[in-house]
Amino acid sequence: MKRTEIREILAKEPVEKQMVVKGWVRNKRASKNVAFITLNDGSVLSSLQVVAEVEKIGQDLLSRIHTGASLAVTGVLKESQGQKQKVELEAQEITIYGEADPEKYPLQPKKHSLEFLREIAHLRFRTNTFSAVNRLRHNMIFAIHKYFHDHGFYNIHSPIITASDAEGAGETFHVTNLDLNNPPKDEKGNVDYSKDFFGRKTNLTVSGQLEAELAALALSKVYTFGPTFRAENSNTKRHLAEFWMIEPEVAFNDLDDNMDLAEDFLKYLIRFALENCREDLDFLDNRQKDAEKSLPQNQRSAMGLIEKLEFVRDNEFERVTYTEAIDILKNSKPNKKKKFNYIIEQWGADLQSEHERYLVEKHFNKPVILTDYPKDIKAFYMKQNDDDTVRAMDILFPQIGEIVGGSQREEVYDKLVRRMEEMNISTEEMWWFMDTRKYGTVPHAGFGLGFERMMLFVTGMGNIRDVIPFPRTPQNAEF
Ligand code: 4AD
Ligand code: MG
Repeated sequence: MKRTEIREILAKEPVEKQMVVKGWVRNKRASKNVAFITLNDGSVLSSLQVVAEVEKIGQDLLSRIHTGASLAVTGVLKESQGQKQKVELEAQEITIYGEADPEKYPLQPKKHSLEFLREIAHLRFRTNTFSAVNRLRHNMIFAIHKYFHDHGFYNIHSPIITASDAEGAGETFHVTNLDLNNPPKDEKGNVDYSKDFFGRKTNLTVSGQLEAELAALALSKVYTFGPTFRAENSNTKRHLAEFWMIEPEVAFNDLDDNMDLAEDFLKYLIRFALENCREDLDFLDNRQKDAEKSLPQNQRSAMGLIEKLEFVRDNEFERVTYTEAIDILKNSKPNKKKKFNYIIEQWGADLQSEHERYLVEKHFNKPVILTDYPKDIKAFYMKQNDDDTVRAMDILFPQIGEIVGGSQREEVYDKLVRRMEEMNISTEEMWWFMDTRKYGTVPHAGFGLGFERMMLFVTGMGNIRDVIPFPRTPQNAEF
């Protein structure tokens, strides 16, 4: 008989039907005559209760079933007598695929800390929290492709190995197959990368934007969705060394169009989650409330997860220039009372996450789009205004800070060259990028959404290491 998934069983509740259900044991309670086994197959959050009579299944077999064991259960679905579930499976036959030694299996039917679960990331998929997070992650990936497909965008695979550093922050991971103990050297004694695999120095990409721009200047509307890598030594709850980024790039769009697109896209993703992932969201909403119970009132989230998602879905983002934001911050209480770690003294200061969160959580109380930053704190490719600012936009979210970074691009050849020279970026090495400004250049704009930052927001989880299956952070590449 073919296996029936728990998702299907709970959706249709086909009572009196005989079926085979397969999954992992979450819990077993046994009395003299009967055992109740909570079976989960990951297809949905909910588990199925299996009722196994000792007389039918046998004490020997039942005594080998513990939390973590994997089973195939043949049985008949019945309306449940219990309060907790509507249906249960009356077992006729049970096969054990794999046992789990209760003395050694690390996951027991009790609360484990997220820190502990990170140490057993290979098993944490088997908890409600991580199965919910990963089902949501899948749904968001699907929704991202669906949004762009439905809006006439084409997906472009940008390269993972590249010779450029799009953001110019120098935080790249080198890619080489030279013998690090004995690398070839040039006359000056420097490593001779012309002898390396690609005949030049290469690194893992920090962004797919530059290649997306090339494609946008032909296909008009494109997006990339790929892994990006940054060797930032930041051990924070919001930074990964390997993360996924979504980067749409649109020909003929200006900064206003770019903001409209980003806001509509983010709200679509939130709506999609609310409409399609309700059971997992309800679970995560309760999880967050539970986790915050022990905190003092002023440290708890102002809104529950679902309330927060609905709020962002239903309210317009505040659009503010960097210059306006600096005025607000300069005059803010935490700045005057020197409560910020970085005091805002003057125009030109780079904003830290504490400032971003002040604007979003205290001042405006909703997502904020900050635009027109000083050119000196932004990348070379941004469209220059007449003053010392560029047409950049960062979207700031509650609890997260920056979730999106983007801009209108400098499409005027001479201006771009001048800026690159000022910033010591070789226009020769970037000849292919320069060509797009030489031939048929057009205004265009795009942005990057950090996928795991979005997942933090949608799941209400507090640490970015818990919204990607296998986090890569400084000193950590286990699993
Ligand atoms: O602001 P960033 O650096 O922008 C770019 O890379 C542009 N090329 C995007 C574009 O215009 N096409 O990064 C974009 C987003 C950030 O807003 C943040 O959400 C996320 O990527 N991000 C990170 N997420 C996790 N860990 C890190 N270390 C991140 N660095 C950036
Ligand atoms: Mg940024």
